[in-house]
Amino acid sequence: MSFVEYSDLIQDGDVAIVYLSHTSALPVKVRQGGQTQTRYGVLRHSSDLIGRRYGSKVTCSRGGWVHVLHPTAELWTCSLPHRTQILYTPDIATITMMLELKPGAVVCESGTGSGSLSHAILRSVAPSGHLHTVEFHQQRAEKVMEEFKEHRVDHLVTVRTQDVCRDGFGVRGVADAVFLDIPSPWEAVQHAKDALRTRAA
Ligand SMILES: C[S@@+](CC[C@H](N)C(=O)[O-])C[C@H]1O[C@@H](n2cnc3c(N)ncnc32)[C@H](O)[C@@H]1O
Repeated sequence: MSFVEYSDLIQDGDVAIVYLSHTSALPVKVRQGGQTQTRYGVLRHSSDLIGRRYGSKVTCSRGGWVHVLHPTAELWTCSLPHRTQILYTPDIATITMMLELKPGAVVCESGTGSGSLSHAILRSVAPSGHLHTVEFHQQRAEKVMEEFKEHRVDHLVTVRTQDVCRDGFGVRGVADAVFLDIPSPWEAVQHAKDALRTRAA
């Protein structure tokens, strides 16, 4: 499993999305011997998840059932642990379209926050693009790096822990697109300009 590549079967070490209802989804780190409590009873990873097909309907210990889904950027946005306000899929779709993101694009983003937009950018620019994301809050930067690793997209992203308004994105002349989701974006405009690729006339 990777957030940018589909696999058929649930495997040990995957992050699967347990879809409980239209308003409730839970990301689960699948582990041999692991268990997850849901309102419908326990899910036993070894017997209920590992080796099953993504998309399966799985019965929990109290008889209720859930669907176990392959992760996507959209499902991650619905289920991620919030450390900040986040961007949601309707806005992300508009941003992705207006930035003309496509495979191979290089993107600069700040702040990373909870990584909701970052995951959508990564899915759009994979398999050969790159995201440079800047987050000045140390714990948020560390946590999102952990998640990128777990989701097997860390080869597509560089996280920098610095103030984008003071220190910029850490790259110059490489970006096809820049997106700012910080309280005072006007203070980073010169850095955004420096990060952008200069196009031949
Ligand atoms: C609203 S959150 C971003 C949410 C993100 N777009 C998402 O979808 O998850 C704003 C983030 O910007 C970070 N931030 C604010 N000012 C910053 C700056 N000058 N440099 C770097 N990060 C900054 C904050 O720490 C916070 O995590």
